[in-house]
Amino acid sequence: MPVPKLMESSGDTPLELTMGTGEWELLPGIRTPTIGFNGPYLGPTVRVRDGQNVPITYSNNLSEAVAIHGHGLHVPGELDGGPQREIEPGGSWSVELPIRQQACTSWYHPHTHGKTGPQAYHGLAGLIIIDDENSESLAIPKTYGLDDLPVVVQDRMLDGQGRLVYSVGDAENGFLGDRVTVNGITDATRAVPAGLVRLRVLNGSNARYYRFRFSDNRVFHKIATDGGFLNEPVPIREVVVLPGERNEIVVDFSDGNSAMLVSGPSQSPSGDSGRRGGDRRRRNDWEPGRLTDSFEILELTVDPDLPAVRGPLPRQSNAISRPTVRPDWPVRRFEMFMPENDGRRGISDSQRPDMDMVMGINGRTMDMHVINERVRRSQWERWEVRSLDGSHPFHVHGCSFLLLSQEGRPVSDEDAGWKDTVRVDDQAEFLVRFEHEATDQYPYMYHCHI
Ligand code: C2O
Ligand code: CU
Repeated sequence: MPVPKLMESSGDTPLELTMGTGEWELLPGIRTPTIGFNGPYLGPTVRVRDGQNVPITYSNNLSEAVAIHGHGLHVPGELDGGPQREIEPGGSWSVELPIRQQACTSWYHPHTHGKTGPQAYHGLAGLIIIDDENSESLAIPKTYGLDDLPVVVQDRMLDGQGRLVYSVGDAENGFLGDRVTVNGITDATRAVPAGLVRLRVLNGSNARYYRFRFSDNRVFHKIATDGGFLNEPVPIREVVVLPGERNEIVVDFSDGNSAMLVSGPSQSPSGDSGRRGGDRRRRNDWEPGRLTDSFEILELTVDPDLPAVRGPLPRQSNAISRPTVRPDWPVRRFEMFMPENDGRRGISDSQRPDMDMVMGINGRTMDMHVINERVRRSQWERWEVRSLDGSHPFHVHGCSFLLLSQEGRPVSDEDAGWKDTVRVDDQAEFLVRFEHEATDQYPYMYHCHI
């Protein structure tokens, strides 16, 4: 398994992320035309610290415009890198990112209007690691590339010539590949120490959901969600990760036994549906994001000569205090649906804002010239998100939120941390507060991450 190079901020010299074309072996011996940052495919891991102001220069050596978004960053709309902020071919964009948030794993990826999917698919994506006092003092694995490993999981499809195939049948389901890569390769293996190993798992796929577990069904701990550490590590045997979501897990290899990270149908008796199943639309065969497909993803073998961090994990890893909901907090409702189903909601054809749209939120698709919601800065709000057509990873820019419920059930321990992307089969409800300004010119976005 390749480990992306670390790029750390040191004072005033900007971090340079340059997009260009290249060739990369997703499959051994097959040279595939790709794009990447500072290399043929994917990009370096940018590591920053809470409190820093980080200068970054993105340069575009591609032949098409690209917007680059920092997914999970709490920065003003101006610095968010949404579709309003395109970098022309040959152009560049320099920002200084004020990092003011707790330790977490975030990522950067294209957000070019109408081209986000294929640009990310061909290789434009990389991790952003944020450290803080807490993450530095916790007794957990933290040596990047040794016991703290980035695991960027993406599905891909190659044609007979070794070129990447990208085709989207319908917008509800999005692109699904037939091979799963980790940090850019298939059949990845990695030697790890005989101790605790921390995996920063990013589902960087366009549409596929994964239910990760280990081949021997061992217990591991989830220690962090999208936006930071959980209050305490949660022991689990499997974890579902949707496109855009990050989960940090810690696996104990002190018994010396290697293990394969796999994805596939639930092995637990109640399964995923026991925790999350929406009653209204749940059928026995209904599994969103192709969770029923099985893949072997990453083989982890134990090398006893590597320096190891031994358990147990600290009991407490964060101190998230959930605000008590107040009745005067604004409530916002979002419904994701395909307008062709409008009939059942009594909206006639002539009232549809867009006739040819495929999926929308509250009946509208993305329009660069429309600001759909205006939110007061620093004000807690309660957002209720529903899906009337399929399951979707709902993502919000510029903030993290705290789940209240999913599918009508109170949030589970493993999802009780800060998040910015959430699974919505039927419904999810969360508390959110925006700390920074986003203007009409550079607004934040909320959207399905497929
Ligand atoms: Cu990860 Cu608006 O995106
Ligand atoms: Cu969706």
